[in-house]
Amino acid sequence: MGKYAFIDNALKELRDLGLYNTIRTIESSVGAWVTIDGRRVLNMCSNNYLGFADDDRLRKAAKDAIDQFGVGPGAVRSIAGTMSLHIELERRMAQFKGTESALSVQSGLNTNLAAIPLLMGKEDVIFTDELNHASIIDGCRLTKAKRVIFPHCDVDGLRALLEENAEIEKKLIITDGVFSMDGDIAPLPGIVEAAEAFGAMVMVDDAHGEGVLGRSGRGIVDHFDLHGRVDLECGTMSKAFGVMGGYIAGDETIVQYLRQRARPFLFSSAATPPDVAACIAAIDILEESDEPVRKLWDNARWLKDALAEHGFDTGNSETPITPVMLGEASTAWDFSKRLFEEGVFASAIAFPTVPRGKARIRVMLSAAHSEDDLRFALDAFVKVGRELGALR
Ligand SMILES: Cc1ncc(COP(=O)(O)O)c(C=O)c1O
Repeated sequence: MGKYAFIDNALKELRDLGLYNTIRTIESSVGAWVTIDGRRVLNMCSNNYLGFADDDRLRKAAKDAIDQFGVGPGAVRSIAGTMSLHIELERRMAQFKGTESALSVQSGLNTNLAAIPLLMGKEDVIFTDELNHASIIDGCRLTKAKRVIFPHCDVDGLRALLEENAEIEKKLIITDGVFSMDGDIAPLPGIVEAAEAFGAMVMVDDAHGEGVLGRSGRGIVDHFDLHGRVDLECGTMSKAFGVMGGYIAGDETIVQYLRQRARPFLFSSAATPPDVAACIAAIDILEESDEPVRKLWDNARWLKDALAEHGFDTGNSETPITPVMLGEASTAWDFSKRLFEEGVFASAIAFPTVPRGKARIRVMLSAAHSEDDLRFALDAFVKVGRELGALR
């Protein structure tokens, strides 16, 4: 037995269970269509909600930033100094979100690794939704705080657990804003009321609310008009913003503390100049017009309604995330494979990303899709759905 036998066994098990993921290679920019294996296919699985990933204005901002600032930040900001570009992004992001301040970090995942362990220690308690994103789970794992998992989007369940833990002084409630696999929206007004009743802080990960919910895509806090009542908003620039990077927005006091002590800020280099400049360009576009956000929603409504009319189960999504529920992982993989043959790239999502028996194709709409694109996708789904007996 070689020393990597345990890995060989784990990989074999994944293959045997039909859970081994072969990642496709994209040979173009990420737009409504992408090139894979030399073929143009309709892209229905990136989180490029607004089509910004290959937007000319973002490309230009990135190129200009390279001309002025070069390609890399050189080191961590706290040691080597911070570029004016990062400060500008933080100022613009705080303004966009309607918070006092904001901190830029390298990714959405890092926002959770930065904020949660810094705020919470071993005497404290974190309340976390059972379907929260893996990066929230990992952020919680980095603390010694007590973890209490509350039932998904269940404010009464949360209140009961807050009651049980009322004697613990420092409490933090964390939820995804939009749940990425199902597309449902956290009941943030109820969560905030519960937090206020029990003196807890609230943190929301708005990775899938950015560019989707609220005025011109300002996110879930704006959507529910909860400005000033949510302690921390964190999110990513890798989805609707089409680029890469994370931000944490909130009161200046919290952001100052993060800047002094958050480990991903202190021990990892900053986002690159072209990334940061492209993110600023994305904010420029959204501040000018809500047209991309409206287009995204129009596309999502059209395709969701059409899929449901044809007998697909599209779950409980309230947002453009459109899960096409298929049950077993093997069905979802077969479905995805057949769609690809029909010219549609839409990935299967199975355990461990979603529970066993709840495999699906997660259809991601974009403002970049045209009406013809949506009809092309629908025809392919219906054809494959009939073949595989997936229609109700
Ligand atoms: C809720 C949530 N938080 C964080 C992330 C991570 O974002 P990033 O890709 O910027 O690290 C994601 C992306 O999958 C997400 O869905």
